[in-house]
Amino acid sequence: MANRKQIKFGAALHGVGGNVSGWRHPNVLADASVNFEQYKRWTHKAEEGKLDFIFIADGLYINEKSIPHFLNRFEPIALLSALASQSSKIGLVGTLSTTYSEPFTVARQFGTIDKISGGRAGWNIVTSPLEGTASNFNNKEHPEHDLRYEIAAEYLEVTRGLWDSWEDDAFVRNKETGVFFDPEKLHTLNHQGRFFSVRGPLNIARSPQGRPVIFQAGSSEVGKSFASREADAIFTGHETIEDAVAFYNDVKERAQAFGRSPDDVLVFPGIGPIVGATEEEAERKYREVAELVTIEKALDHLGRFFEHHDFSQYPLDEPFPDIGELGRNSFQSGTDKIKADAKANNWTLREVALRAATRRSEFVGTPAQVADLIQKWFEAGAADGFILFEAVPGGLEDFVDHVVPILQERGLFRKEYESDTLRGNLGLPFPENRYAQAKSVLSSQGGDKR
Ligand SMILES: Cc1cc2nc3c(=O)[nH]c(=O)nc-3n(C[C@H](O)[C@H](O)[C@H](O)COP(=O)(O)O)c2cc1C
Repeated sequence: MANRKQIKFGAALHGVGGNVSGWRHPNVLADASVNFEQYKRWTHKAEEGKLDFIFIADGLYINEKSIPHFLNRFEPIALLSALASQSSKIGLVGTLSTTYSEPFTVARQFGTIDKISGGRAGWNIVTSPLEGTASNFNNKEHPEHDLRYEIAAEYLEVTRGLWDSWEDDAFVRNKETGVFFDPEKLHTLNHQGRFFSVRGPLNIARSPQGRPVIFQAGSSEVGKSFASREADAIFTGHETIEDAVAFYNDVKERAQAFGRSPDDVLVFPGIGPIVGATEEEAERKYREVAELVTIEKALDHLGRFFEHHDFSQYPLDEPFPDIGELGRNSFQSGTDKIKADAKANNWTLREVALRAATRRSEFVGTPAQVADLIQKWFEAGAADGFILFEAVPGGLEDFVDHVVPILQERGLFRKEYESDTLRGNLGLPFPENRYAQAKSVLSSQGGDKR
């Protein structure tokens, strides 16, 4: 069981980065988003640093204004399968949409990565924010925001049911007797619901961690409820420690209200640490990337959150335009916040766009300063762990080489992996197979009455 007093870390591997113009930096491999050697190097570095997992984000709709990384990147399932064979301890987490896929296929794909990796798979459930996505999937109607979460909930119910198709010891494989499996330990789901009809069973057994770890990043009211009811880990993004603490308490209380232990839902704010030998060097690294961003690119970047809205039609130096409900059906919590912050601070469109496109977390400074802040957030109850984004080239390497040793020295981060599975390293309980559990409850109550 992992030490709950210690911080967890995931590393988002994001090709040329989340910055619209970061690929132009001299130290960035311009083809990093489709360069497998680079993904291997990052994975090895993250595992060398004993980080809990790598994370591959994803989306299913692009246009010519999308950021360069989105234009040409690896599909997460295929990439993680390849990276599974390049690593032995680190968790492998990827995004897959419950709005534009089928539960049987996805249960099988993540089940396969979980088996290949010996129990290191994680699934970041997203509901696909952008309406344009529908145009890549037979123009089916893009469900509205809250409905997408209802679909996701039933989808996950089906997936979990399929992952329990086989009890852990179902496969006997006795060559002498010719018994390959125990039919008592095979279970057919027979799910008939509002959105899905899936019979089962699934054609792959459980892994050493039982089933993949579920990640989610809901931040709207309905999103937070879904995440705190269903997820093992919640991704989030907050600029201040106060906001992060409020979110942390909110989702932990919701989890408790759903009858869960708050310790079984881990909260991971996303941060983009920038480390320099001196404060000045760290600031310079930030500026080098920020200054690559033109206002035109910043408007494109901002527009994506609002269904790729064309912001170039408004005056740049007047207050952020009134765009009504736009954005509420996509990244709802994020777009609500952009609008609210712009209004509260009376920011111009130029200011809003540049802030969004050159986001700067407060985790900028010397290794000790960054470690101090991480410790502060952790101890204040703002985070159980952090998901690290590379805000500048070499960000992951800097973090592993210079910040991790400080946190290890302080006893805040592991020096060795505690477990071979992602669930084990995150300190999450092993989920018993539901049928095996029911049988053991029955027998403890005085015998099997079948
Ligand atoms: C760390 C982090 C990672 C995310 N990764 C993805 C992703 O890979 N794909 C995606 O479509 N959305 C991603 N999102 C966005 C969320 O899925 C979600 O749309 C957003 O947090 C808004 O939540 P809401 O729908 O509850 O308002 C991510 C969010 C965070 C904070």
